[in-house]
Amino acid sequence: MLTWLLLVLATVAFVLILLTMYWCYVNYNYFFKMKNLPGPSPLPILGNALYFKELDGFLNTLLKLKSKYGSPFKITIGFQYPWVIISDSKFMTFFLSSNKYITKSQDYNFFRSWLGDGLLTSTGKQWKIHRKILTPAFHFDILEKFLDVFEKNVEIMLNRWRNEIGTTNFDVFPFVRLLTLDIICETALRTEINAQIDNNSDYVRSVQLLNRILMDRALSLFLWHDSIYMHSDHSIRERSAVKIINSLTDSVIKRRKEEIENQWDSHVEDSGDERKLAFLDLLLQAEADGERLSDISIRDEVNTFMFEGHDTTASAISFSLYNISQHPEVQKKIVEELNTISNKGNNSGHFTYTDLQEMKYLEAVIKETLRMYPPVPLFGRLATEDILYGNQ
Ligand code: HEM
Ligand SMILES: *[C@@H]1O[C@H](CO)[C@@H](O)[C@H](O)[C@H]1NC(C)=O
Ligand SMILES: *[C@@H]1O[C@H](CO)[C@@H](O)[C@H](O)[C@H]1NC(C)=O
Ligand SMILES: *[C@@H]1O[C@H](CO)[C@@H](O)[C@H](O)[C@H]1NC(C)=O
Repeated sequence: MLTWLLLVLATVAFVLILLTMYWCYVNYNYFFKMKNLPGPSPLPILGNALYFKELDGFLNTLLKLKSKYGSPFKITIGFQYPWVIISDSKFMTFFLSSNKYITKSQDYNFFRSWLGDGLLTSTGKQWKIHRKILTPAFHFDILEKFLDVFEKNVEIMLNRWRNEIGTTNFDVFPFVRLLTLDIICETALRTEINAQIDNNSDYVRSVQLLNRILMDRALSLFLWHDSIYMHSDHSIRERSAVKIINSLTDSVIKRRKEEIENQWDSHVEDSGDERKLAFLDLLLQAEADGERLSDISIRDEVNTFMFEGHDTTASAISFSLYNISQHPEVQKKIVEELNTISNKGNNSGHFTYTDLQEMKYLEAVIKETLRMYPPVPLFGRLATEDILYGNQ
């Protein structure tokens, strides 16, 4: 009996020692290269994981640590590479304006089953090539071509609010999220999915499910490790959602390719509708120009835009509306500004692209909301070499 007990204890001790050694190896930089950085002291193996015990507290914990240690500070969680958290504008400018530090941090792997090697998750040479192809899609002027799409879809949302909701208090976010999904599909893919009219289609449900799952995973330390995550409920649902999304994405790409081929075959000139050079066409055209994007690459970029383009904007719009609703005096000023602009022209309620540029006060309100409630509160890079900043 005693020998068994001793044997078990010895094995446990041995495993713990091995884990600790491995942990020290992973955290080598934490102890030596970052020794001058402030930060909470870690426990062996767990690191600072105990700080993140409360599940809803991930961001709040980071904020608390930030107010204690300033910027930058270091933390380490389990066997992840240690983190240096930067939140001051000087260091961020230094970091983000460098074209050297473009390797995404390991957390981005969570997104890979959906977004593959799209812009958000990719790195190095592939990122540079794709970024060059897609940069025109980020140009401000693109927005002008789609004002009617914005207007049409917003009108659908407002009608639903008038007819279904009346004057009660309600959460705008679920509605705005369908709005932005409709808009990103219609503008980037030129495909109408009518999510606002039917929010129950497989595609819409899958997109919303994946957003939820990815957020849950990012904020819950238990699900970080692939070998644990693989066996979770989340992972099974994630895989089936990705399948559904990909089948829609693939069919949109296929249809557009056929349209383009038919155009060439029959030598029909493009109808002059310039907005056809939307995002999807930039990808397909790049292929035609010999830059060779595989079908999978194109699908990854399309999925990336669907993801990046709708939840972020929905969050920004919802927080703006919320904050405006809490401040009637701000709301009044916004309405005054809009009235002034619409009285100048005789457009009877249709704002033009130039009108948008005159909405200075509204713009300031939205920017302040983005500062207060950033839709993407953190993002990360992996240091592939020593980074010297100041005297650190
Ligand atoms: C308020 C709205 C938005 C916010 C706050 C936001 C925020 C961000 C942030 C912080 C990043 C950097 C992530 C990183 O480098 O790790 C990013 C990247 C990206 N965003 Fe957005 N975004 C918004 C809207 C959009 C929209 C509407 C689209 C597409 C139509 C979009 C497409 C992308 C793409 C493709 C990337 C990856 C770019 C690259 O790495 O080259 N985003 N976004
Ligand atoms: C989603 O669809 C259901 C059923 O049609 C409807 O009751 C609900 O209000 C819709 N939700 C949103 C946010 O549109
Ligand atoms: C709205 O934003 C302001 C900053 O512009 C902030 O001080 C305030 O707390 C926010 N109000 C609400 C109700 O969210
Ligand atoms: C109002 O409309 C008329 C005719 O449609 C146009 O000639 C005029 O320039 C417009 N005025 C303004 C200020 O836009």
